[in-house]
Amino acid sequence: MCGIVGYVGPQNALDVVLEGLRRLEYRGYDSAGVAVLAGGGQATAKKAGKLANLEKDLADSPLPESTIGIGHTRWATHGGPTDRNAHPHVSADGRVAVIHNGIIENFAALRAECEAAGVEFTSETDTEVAAHLLARVYDETPPGPGRLAEAMRTVSRRLEGAFTLVASHADEPDTLVASRRNSPLVVGVGEAADGTPEYFLGSDVAAFIAHTREARELGQDQVVEIDRHRGLTVTDFAGTAVEPHAYTVDWDAEAAEKGGYDWFMLKEIAEQPRAVADTLLGRIGQGGELVLDEVRLSDQDLRDIDKVFVVACGTAYHAGLIAKYAIEHWTRIPVEVEVASEFRYRDPVLDRSTLVVVISQSGETMDTLMALRHAKEQKARVLAICNANGSTIPRESDAVLYTHAGPEVAVASTKGFLTQLIACYLVGLFLAQVRGIKYADEVATIVDDLRRLPEAVAEVLTRMEPVRELGRSLAGAGTILFLGRHVAFPVALEGALKLKELAYIHAEGFAAGELKHGPIALIDQGTPVVVVVPSPRARESVHGKVVSNIQEVRARGARTIVIAEEGDEDVVPYADHVIRVPRTPTLMAPVVTTVPLQVLACEIADTRGYDVDQPRNLAKSVTVE
Ligand code: F6R
Repeated sequence: MCGIVGYVGPQNALDVVLEGLRRLEYRGYDSAGVAVLAGGGQATAKKAGKLANLEKDLADSPLPESTIGIGHTRWATHGGPTDRNAHPHVSADGRVAVIHNGIIENFAALRAECEAAGVEFTSETDTEVAAHLLARVYDETPPGPGRLAEAMRTVSRRLEGAFTLVASHADEPDTLVASRRNSPLVVGVGEAADGTPEYFLGSDVAAFIAHTREARELGQDQVVEIDRHRGLTVTDFAGTAVEPHAYTVDWDAEAAEKGGYDWFMLKEIAEQPRAVADTLLGRIGQGGELVLDEVRLSDQDLRDIDKVFVVACGTAYHAGLIAKYAIEHWTRIPVEVEVASEFRYRDPVLDRSTLVVVISQSGETMDTLMALRHAKEQKARVLAICNANGSTIPRESDAVLYTHAGPEVAVASTKGFLTQLIACYLVGLFLAQVRGIKYADEVATIVDDLRRLPEAVAEVLTRMEPVRELGRSLAGAGTILFLGRHVAFPVALEGALKLKELAYIHAEGFAAGELKHGPIALIDQGTPVVVVVPSPRARESVHGKVVSNIQEVRARGARTIVIAEEGDEDVVPYADHVIRVPRTPTLMAPVVTTVPLQVLACEIADTRGYDVDQPRNLAKSVTVE
């Protein structure tokens, strides 16, 4: 999703802004641009494609030195990914430069208004309207300190939809202003080598983490003014001063680097044992009981819950599907799982005794955020499972359980997913503990199982060479099917999603029991079918039924790739390839069975020559609908 960077300080702004944009590349984008204030005017450069294209242009025609600048990576929504549509957009009088993340929903009416006043538009974007409006409103705003911020507040009140806007004006060479509604923005506050204060704006902290870890969180419907001399001022859209929440980022720049791996995704897959361990850290008491201090819901609130909804998008939704098996089994509370984009437009039946668990790695996914608000309007309690500290979703939730995965840079979620699973197990078990459904020793036994997971994941990772080899042999496949049953069904969905998004191969995940109701017709001679086998200890004869499914697809010509736990010999006669995972408790098996599927998708994509970290058309954080 669009990346935003702004800088005010003693360093050369262009260098700082370009470096920030590089760190935001992981969000996914298709054009990039920068603007600096110099010589009494705006100097801009923008280019479709990767940042490298823009940097090449800048090497040929450099922008003047400046100490104030903005930069943007754009993920096209209104208007294709062209040079013209790239941000920044400059007002007709050339004085204002604007960058934007989000969608201005009433842009057509505002554009008509500007055109009626004689403004000629040069792009197809919704953003350009903000540049023209801001220039016009600025001219109508009384001169004096804070004039640009006042103009930004006036404009913001007129905009509908989602936006983070950052703007500079040629008449205010020491000021940047930004405005935020339903779209993320963080301010970094640092000190340059010479002791001069410097300020950064970013869509997330990765934009400025190399310079400072001191951050200020901008709330909903707020405007920030950064003035070189007067410092930082935050107000709401009406102009009332607001004290921004200050926090220190607990990542460092090194954590956001590749650390010697070819891809961020590989690094993040390798980090999973640590990420799983960190997500458990500090949450287990002396007696093996769970201590979830951050869950700011009282025990009585938790005892009153009679229904749970889990709401999320994409991979996080798959974590939710697995959560259902665990929460229902451990607590006997009914659980519904739904994609946020559906939930938010339905009339789900919720009340004060409903717990809505929203899961989001980024904490900024628009549909999940809107689902959260939809749930809160109906008085449901909302618990967020989130990785990004200080992001919008946890801030607006009643309670939060952070996954301590560290920064996830690759667009495809890996450690984010595994840690979401851990957090879901913690929520389910905590509910069972608080409600007294499980005895303390039962809780402690399950907690012991959870504690063994980091080691189990580490063990899976030591066995990945044959999986990589298999991946190379599958790189030419036209379609790959994934089957699973019980908790292995969402794992099959996740395996198919990873393959689609990274390798651009048609892939589908099915509940193995549905095979004969249609999907089996897809099996052709040589069709690769990945079967995730549930534990032989899973409910009733689920395991045996999946073994039968392997036989059935093989009898119709499929090449069978079977993920099964150690010692499961039943699968051997029907498997062309067996990928072994350590024996794990039934409900926790997804934590180990997902890992080979991540590695497989990564290797197939790499063999096909694709950018594993930034797959085409995708964005890390989907902050628009
Ligand atoms: C897939 C993937 C996406 C995200 C989804 C939700 O690998 O990463 O499907 O899981 O966009 O994102 P968050 O968790 O940030 O809300």
